Amino acid sequence: MRTQVGIVGAGPSGLLLSHLLHLRGIESVVVEIRSRRYCETRIRAGVLEQGTVDLLSASGVGARMAREGLVHHGIVLRFGGRDHRIDLSGLTGGRTITVYGQHEVVKDLIAARLNAGGDLFFEVQDVEVLDVDTPAPRIRFGRAGTAEELRCDFIAGCDGFHGVCRPAVPPGVLTAYEHAFPLAWLGILAQVPPASEELIYSSHDRGFALLSMRSPELSRLYLQCAPDEDMNGWPDKRIWDELRRRFERDDAWTLRDGPVLQKGITAMRSFVVAPMQYERLFLVGDAAHIVPPTGAKGLNLAAADVMVLTRALEAFYATGRTDRLARYSEVCLRRVWKVQRFSWWMTSMLHRSNDGEFFDRLHRAELDYITGSRAASTALAENYVGLPFDDD
Ligand code: FAD
Ligand code: DHB
Repeated sequence: MRTQVGIVGAGPSGLLLSHLLHLRGIESVVVEIRSRRYCETRIRAGVLEQGTVDLLSASGVGARMAREGLVHHGIVLRFGGRDHRIDLSGLTGGRTITVYGQHEVVKDLIAARLNAGGDLFFEVQDVEVLDVDTPAPRIRFGRAGTAEELRCDFIAGCDGFHGVCRPAVPPGVLTAYEHAFPLAWLGILAQVPPASEELIYSSHDRGFALLSMRSPELSRLYLQCAPDEDMNGWPDKRIWDELRRRFERDDAWTLRDGPVLQKGITAMRSFVVAPMQYERLFLVGDAAHIVPPTGAKGLNLAAADVMVLTRALEAFYATGRTDRLARYSEVCLRRVWKVQRFSWWMTSMLHRSNDGEFFDRLHRAELDYITGSRAASTALAENYVGLPFDDD
């Protein structure tokens, strides 16, 4: 088989890249180790920046999101028993965020690619990327028991943090920058209407908690826990009791519980690899970087990488220009580090740390400052709704 861009991974990065390339007349093939059903039901991120929403809408995959996505104009920071609203729209000239599950974005992108006759191969095995330092890189994989080989001009490594593309780069080329937080989130999806119209980020002495949602009937809630927390120690009743304590407010605000449909623990880390390119292999999204989830940035950052790579490939196929491809990593990393900073800052400010009372008091003072100063609230808001795309 032969294509122009071989894409490893059918997560948001790989699917969006394939879709945007198709709109520009560039062929691609996507290979994915998991099943289509698995990709379409994996519960992950839920907050889309305005720029991500605009990108999906402008590229023709925004119709269902426009109907079902929940547009939010603000978020709530809860601490000291009180709510402090950050008026995202008021502070950013009208920008908003949209709550729409990552798996819904994935469903919409898969449908768009299949409707356009795109090649998406699910449930492949033993994926290998080869010859990326030559003009004819290859992806080798097994499909229904047969060995296949895909010859390409370029390979996009969209295979997430645990994929095969990043390790395929020879030793010594990439530098990894990493920070493991001594924290994790226990997340649940529950069949109960969200207790608040807007997201609530609650900083409590017992630890951080987050209230989000997926629809008017489904709540998504998270609790700070230890990275080695055992899920068996968290029957549903304990989760709801703990959530209620961490969301307590001076008045009678309460959280209603309901059936827990799904639960899981996510460790928190910051990770960046540089450069995000080696010869004809480009690393995109989680394959190149991970952010702790507190700022809701992982998926949005992946979309930003995809945009930069799409424009670079478009310039290459239109005119043979390689300068944009050569600058892919540099352009992406500028945004990546700003988003790392924001995610790290939100994480440290909102979680109970193990660093001692001194730091907890600093974080409380920071929350007080952020919510009391228009300048500081604006800094939070403009990062939360998403920094502008700047790809030159
Ligand atoms: P992924 O979504 O990881 O997609 C990679 C794809 O590649 C997967 O489908 C995988 O099966 C496939 N793959 C892997 N190895 C191979 C291989 N060898 N060959 C072929 N295919 C392969 N972000 C937020 O903003 N908020 C959240 O609440 C949030 N929660 C998260 C919870 C979890 C458990 C995780 C892991 C991430 C979460 N994130 C969250 C981050 C966000 O989901 C990611 O940033 C986003 O999924 C990145 O998209 P991606 O396409 O780059 O990578
Ligand atoms: C969600 C996840 C986040 O990491 C976040 O900061 C806000 C919302 C969510 O899954 O809905």
